[in-house]
Amino acid sequence: MSGGLFISFEGGEGVGKSTQVRRLAARLQAAGREVVVTREPGGSPGAEAIRNLVLNGSADRWSPVTETLLMYASRRDHIERTLRPALERGAVVLCDRYADSTRAYQGAAGGADPDLISALETFILEDVRPVRTLVFDLDPEAGLARALGRPDAEARFESKGLDFHRRLRAGFLAIARDEPARCRVIDAAGDPDQVEARILDALADLPGVLG
Ligand code: TMP
Repeated sequence: MSGGLFISFEGGEGVGKSTQVRRLAARLQAAGREVVVTREPGGSPGAEAIRNLVLNGSADRWSPVTETLLMYASRRDHIERTLRPALERGAVVLCDRYADSTRAYQGAAGGADPDLISALETFILEDVRPVRTLVFDLDPEAGLARALGRPDAEARFESKGLDFHRRLRAGFLAIARDEPARCRVIDAAGDPDQVEARILDALADLPGVLG
């Protein structure tokens, strides 16, 4: 999309994405770029309303297919109201989760049909796709321990079992393996400074981002 740059951050629970989104945003703003920090599900008023529906309640409140449709309803609103306008203005967009989360959570871990998810990607995303995706990778036991230690009411997915989170990790790693030009796996273990250094390395080849 003209001038803008779309970077997504993906991974399981408690991998430290949000901290790194904030750090990268500060670094890019200091370098004079317009930065839009956003998240999914959410990132526009309508999409945030759907977020409340989908992230609260019991673990089995929605089936994986219904979740897929809710995620894509919120994603379409986010694209129309926030992402496409920002990219057309030439902003750098840092998005905490995007379409790969549906492939991994609802597809690989939840069992929704991957053909349904690909069809939705084609019709709903159109050309609003990240140029680089950072896949944060961490042992699910460590990630869940971190996530469950947070004062966070939105715990529907955190309350699914360890097996779900193992399938989730495998799902994200499979996406990165299948799309090596777009994706970089970031080892999310260690302190935030170490993780940040790995991220800067994973973005170094993108023209006009950090140099
Ligand atoms: P967060 O905790 O990183 O804000 O993410 C919100 C939750 O939503 C997280 O448990 C993952 C889940 N999610 C999906 O299941 N499918 C999706 O497509 C997205 C974007 C998020």
